[in-house]
Amino acid sequence: MQKQKKSRITPTILGIETSCDETAVSLVRAKRVGKNYNCQVLWNRVHTQIPIHRKHGGVVPEVAAREHAVRLPVILNELTKDFPLAKLKRQIDAIAVTAGPGLVTSLLVGVEVGRTMAVAWDKPMIATNHLEGHIYANLLSTDNAKRNFTFPVLVLIVSGGHTELVLMKKDLRYQLLGSTRDDAAGEAFDKIAKLLGLPYPGGPVLSKLAATGQASINFPRPMLDQNNFDFSFAGLKTAVLVYLEKHKKYIAANVAASAQAAIVETLVEKTLRAAKQYSPKTVVLAGGVAANTMLRAQLKQRFTETLPKMQVMEPSLTYTTDNAAMIATAGAIRFLNGYQTSWKNVRANPKPELK
Ligand code: KG4
Ligand code: ZN
Repeated sequence: MQKQKKSRITPTILGIETSCDETAVSLVRAKRVGKNYNCQVLWNRVHTQIPIHRKHGGVVPEVAAREHAVRLPVILNELTKDFPLAKLKRQIDAIAVTAGPGLVTSLLVGVEVGRTMAVAWDKPMIATNHLEGHIYANLLSTDNAKRNFTFPVLVLIVSGGHTELVLMKKDLRYQLLGSTRDDAAGEAFDKIAKLLGLPYPGGPVLSKLAATGQASINFPRPMLDQNNFDFSFAGLKTAVLVYLEKHKKYIAANVAASAQAAIVETLVEKTLRAAKQYSPKTVVLAGGVAANTMLRAQLKQRFTETLPKMQVMEPSLTYTTDNAAMIATAGAIRFLNGYQTSWKNVRANPKPELK
């Protein structure tokens, strides 16, 4: 994206998110306050397709895209009930759409609707990286509390498709420290849940079951013994499968608790190790798996014990899993830093780098 002059205005950004199986629209107003931002969510809707995909045990890309195409105009129409069209047209400074990563067929719906609106309303656009959205979701509060990053920031991104440790020395700049070599943390939750016969998406269901069990099985902590910031969760899934085949009378809650403990410990200890090496001022949790209660609690506890000066931030639960407020917020930060572009330059890109 071409960088232009920093903007001094207080932009109102329309955000559109259709990267996977949530159709979402939001309106966010952002303001620069010194080195920080004050981001206010004016409107926010998420339509989840989970009940549709549950029948298939996972997201069916074509079904997801068709559902986005049906739902997105309906949600935009709801927006015009609260913000009359003429006012909306005047008020919006730019349209931010998730350009990737995600399922290309799903991304295309949001991107093309966004481009069409940008042409019709003559507005600039921001092609937003979904992971950047998850990171900047941390600036949104549901209780008016101030939320700011103090740089350098270390981010643990944990979603359905990504597990990454990223260092940010300033806004919108990312240095990848490590990532998963196979399955993402959310994928591990989902696949292990499936082995236990739990419905899609497995993460929240498995963690609920885990709360009723004991972490009594010593599953491997993948790559914890290796001196790098990479992750690998495919072996853990296999270890659970082998256990289930060997112990026909297994206690599902104990398997869930033990698998969750292995995933959480690996994520937390690698983050601690990165924090010791890079000395960030803020440690940020981002992505759908950040909704996991145990991950939130352990991350806070381990940092309080070992690196108490570092501020640990988690997104508020409303903005943790996929939503468009995070896309509008990341879009607003980009807009304020001069990154808006023409609809002509916006394309769906299923595998962009965070840069
Ligand atoms: O960020 P997200 O909403 O979508 C992607 O960008 O992928 O993340 C979805 C992932 C799924 O794998 C889901 O199972 C997982 O986040 N997840 C959880 C929890 N809530 C959602 N995993 C563990 N515990 C949870 N409470
Ligand atoms: Zn996501």
